Amino acid sequence: QLCQHRAPMGEEAGTPLTPVCWLAPEQTAGKQKPYMYTQGQAVLNRSFFPCFDTPSVKFTYSATVTVPEGFTAVMSATSWEKQKDNTFVFKMSQPIPSYLIALAVGDIVSADVGPRSRVWAEPCLIEAAKKEYDGVIEEFLTVGEKLFGPYVWGRYDILFMPPSFPFGGMENPCLTFVTPCLLAGDRSLVDVIIHEISHSWFGNLVTNATWGEFWLNEGFTMYAQRRISTEVYGSAYTCLEAATGRALLRQHMDNTGEDHPLNKLRVVIEPGVNPDDTYNETPYEKGYCFVSYLAHLVGDQNKFDAFLQAYVNQFKFQSITADDTLGFFLEYFPELKEKGVESIPGFEFDRWLNTPGWPPYLPDLSPGEQLMKPADELAELWAADSLNMEAIEAVDITAWRTYQLVYFLDQVLQKSPLPEGNVERLSNMYPKISKALNAELRLRWCQIVLKNNLEAEYSKVKDFLHSQGKQKYTLPLYRAMWGGSEAARALAMETFSATAPQLHVNVQNYVRKILGLEVAEA
Ligand code: BES
Ligand code: ZN
Repeated sequence: QLCQHRAPMGEEAGTPLTPVCWLAPEQTAGKQKPYMYTQGQAVLNRSFFPCFDTPSVKFTYSATVTVPEGFTAVMSATSWEKQKDNTFVFKMSQPIPSYLIALAVGDIVSADVGPRSRVWAEPCLIEAAKKEYDGVIEEFLTVGEKLFGPYVWGRYDILFMPPSFPFGGMENPCLTFVTPCLLAGDRSLVDVIIHEISHSWFGNLVTNATWGEFWLNEGFTMYAQRRISTEVYGSAYTCLEAATGRALLRQHMDNTGEDHPLNKLRVVIEPGVNPDDTYNETPYEKGYCFVSYLAHLVGDQNKFDAFLQAYVNQFKFQSITADDTLGFFLEYFPELKEKGVESIPGFEFDRWLNTPGWPPYLPDLSPGEQLMKPADELAELWAADSLNMEAIEAVDITAWRTYQLVYFLDQVLQKSPLPEGNVERLSNMYPKISKALNAELRLRWCQIVLKNNLEAEYSKVKDFLHSQGKQKYTLPLYRAMWGGSEAARALAMETFSATAPQLHVNVQNYVRKILGLEVAEA
């Protein structure tokens, strides 16, 4: 039974805030049947069912969901059973915070990809979904268990969402929700899966007690993700991926100014402010730097891994604050406490938490040099006033991995606008990039098109924004269009009026804000 009370209002837009998205058949991959799903993090689930909608409270739940004939319901639950009359009964036997309860209903089928994992997707995507992750999930889970302790959630399944899903992934326990953009055909975006798996320990077991300390969820998860990635793919690749993360933090701080109050790990969220409005790269990448700094203080990876495992064991099924985390750290390493590591000038724990700005410590990413250097050099060549085509042609990018191309494009973007004509030539030279289907490459290419005002390729921006609705892809492109030429602004308006109905409410409202659109009170 859904709660019928009135949904809270979005402060800016006056749109009802609800985690429930109702999609018409055209908004699905198969375009045959409607679909519904919920996205509750951070504080939307209060409009879905009555609850203490704070991450500081944990509880078990059960749910009975009746759906029309021909539909399947799935939830973030440890067990489920289909009864007669299309009724599904779900139970979550471990205590979780309200934001991790999620439901999806649609024309969904599943396929096994491991001993405790299956993928769920619309029938037209299931083959691709199975192919993308068949046989790889179990390895991530096993490495995670080795590093951080038992996986307590039973199954780890993945649901591929309709294209408008606003996130890359959402760590709903037992059943991660992901964007269909991950179906790249080559597993190149698997870091998102490793990230969501890492939340099984950091976030879902040990949870931030308040949204002001969201970095406890995301910073530790970024660290855990990169630990698993290092074990499975090695440090060169993982450092390259981390460097693209660092570039995102750089872009974010450049956009907002380093001193912006949101650029600290402990954010003050005043009453009435929606925690979603504080979302940015800081808890992820500055949080990652802080956890890396703690590891650096310890100085021994094995010891730090053991600490992480003890930390999870100490605080599992609880909600905690950074004081709990750091207190436990100092208790676990009394020799560090003795040395007074919490107050080393410039690196005080208090400064990490409460001072905005660039991280005082950056982990060493030099193991990625071998992959980054060729990309750095190539970007340098393309930024020259007169192009040295001989040198450019001597670089063979055909064997480059997706993240190497992403890193290269971030460098090109940083140097943009390039001298007149260079981007056209780059576009012609590398169809692998300018005609890419991979969403991370498409995002970067669209950003480059806009920053260089390459009107000939505006249609790619439009097509990309029509094809998916992920917030982290959508907002940077609207910001770039709105900050660009008249033609770019027109493109923004045209694209938004065509795609608004299929975007998640939060994303719609953030785009409206970027475009300075007045919104009628609901
Ligand atoms: N839990 C987040 C998504 C989220 C955050 C939803 C805040 C609502 C409010 C999820 O784990 C996440 O961080 N997803 C990232 C993955 C990336 C960092 C690999 C995403 O969607 O981009
Ligand atoms: Zn996350």
